[in-house]
Parts: sequence; C-alpha cells; structure tokens
Amino acid sequence: MSASDNVLCDIQGRVALVTINRPDKRNALDSATRARLIELFDELSANPEVRTVVLTGAGDKAFVAGADISEFEGRSPIDQFRVMSGRTVFDAMEAFPKPVIAALNGFTLGGGCELAMACDIRLAADTAKLGQPEVNLGIIPGGGGTQRLPRLVGTGMAYKLLYTGDLIGADEALRIGLVDEVVPAADLRARALALATAIAEKSPVALRLIKEAIRASIRSPLDEGLRQERTLFGLVFASEDKAEGVAAFMGKRRAEFKGR
Ligand code: COA
Repeated sequence: MSASDNVLCDIQGRVALVTINRPDKRNALDSATRARLIELFDELSANPEVRTVVLTGAGDKAFVAGADISEFEGRSPIDQFRVMSGRTVFDAMEAFPKPVIAALNGFTLGGGCELAMACDIRLAADTAKLGQPEVNLGIIPGGGGTQRLPRLVGTGMAYKLLYTGDLIGADEALRIGLVDEVVPAADLRARALALATAIAEKSPVALRLIKEAIRASIRSPLDEGLRQERTLFGLVFASEDKAEGVAAFMGKRRAEFKGR
C-alpha cells in the first residue's frame, strides 16, 4: 500500500485499488487531491503490471461529495480559470488508457458525479446518492457534467437533475443509465475488484483499443467512429495478444495475454 495523505493506492495483482481518502470531508476534491490523482493515474498508466483500476472513496458515507467548496470562497474568475486550465482530473481519468471502474460507496455529488462519469463503468452501492447540486450554490458543473450527463441519461433527464439539484438513489441512477450495476453496500468493493480482476485477464492491447473506439463513439459522428473502429480492428491484428487469443481458441486452451 502506498499512500499520500489524500489518495491511497493498493496494487493487488493486476488491479490497482485507488481510494480517495478525505472521509471527514466526504472525500471532497480539493486541489491537492485532484493533483495527486492526476499524478497517480500517470504512474498507473506507465506500470505494465497494472491492467485495471477500481476508484472508490474512503469510509461508508461518500464516494466524493464534490469539489471542495471551501476553496471557492473568495476565488476570482482568473483564479478559477487557472485552476481549470491544463489537464483536469476528469480529462486524465477519461484518457487513462486502461479500464477504470468507479465503485460509488455513498454520496456521489457534483465533481464526484463528474469524476464517476469520466470512468468507464460505474458500480453503485445500494445506499449511494447521486446528483449535480451545483445549482444550489449558484454555480454550474465545471468538470464535464453538462456534457457527459446528457450523453449518459439524455437531455431531458440531465436538465431535470441539473435544474433541480435533486439527489437520486442508486436504483433510479441504474434505471436512467447513470450507473451500470447496483450492489449491496457491504459487497461493493469485492464486486468491483472481482469485475476488475476478470477484465484484467483479457488482452491489454484489445482493452486499450476498445477504450479508444468507444471514446471515438462519444466524440465523433457515426461514420467517423466506424472508420476509427475499422482502423483499430486492423491494428489489433498486429498484436501478439491477437495471435495468442486465436491460437488458444484453436488449440482449445486458455489464452495467456502479455499485453504486446
Ligand atoms: N466541500 C467541502 N467540504 C465538504 C463538502 C464539499 N463538497 N461536502 C462535505 N464537506 C464537509 C462538511 O463541510 C463537513 O465538514 P466539517 O465537519 O468540518 O463541518 C464534513 O464534510 C461532513 O459533512 P456533513 O454535511 O456534516 O455530512 P452529512 O453526511 O450530513 O452530509 C453531504 C453529506 C454530502 C450531503 C453534505 O455534506 C453536502 O451537501 N455537501 C456538499 C455537496 C455539494 O454541494 N457538492 C457539489 C459541490 S460543487
């Protein structure tokens, strides 16, 4: 277990469990925590032993209850512009080249919901509460909430959540497509790690290209996305993992993927 104060990282085999660790502040994202997350994800990106990541919050109350509101006090537009310029934690999460599963263990609000939406898969504890309550502070989402939320749940539901600031429970979040699975709170971490472990068995090359192709589906019109998929499909034929996967199937044995 390596720890900086506000973010913990525990590498178990091929899976890294990253825990945002400010439980007394409901794991609110202050500048230092955001910076450490970016740095840590860069480290995990470069670590070939790590194939998948689970991101969660410390304690049983919150995944992340948003940006640290105390940092907003007295902040000028120029200060805020400086904070948001450069690579944000949301950009870093989305561009991270390996699968990331968010395990939402409680309040997932504002920047916490935006962080979860920048991950690939969202598992929620049945006790989780999600929402974008920025409107109650007289502000708007700044970490992708106005863009990723409508893509996940549709514009009407996004308007409803952003206009009202209302929180919704895990089952409602599942119904509208904001989360992908709901798990009893006590089982959440184990389920997220089991899913991450199962995915970590797959070819890292294929996983990376799947991520690239799905990101293209979000960013591009259909014909452009399809063109990118075809290019990536050709590229994957250059990998040793493809040769291994096909040979294992033909030889009726289990594939051992090396990520090459
Ligand atoms: N930023 C800074 N501090 C936060 C925070 C945030 N987003 N969310 C919670 N905290 C702090 C509280 O100020 C409190 O600190 P204190 O003990 O020093 O007073 C501590 O975390 C516990 O919060 P509390 O409100 O007592 O816990 P709760 O379990 O009753 O309620 C929430 C939890 C998440 C519902 C509530 O804290 C909340 O509404 N937070 C703000 C959510 C928000 O608006 N997020 C969007 C930000 S843009």
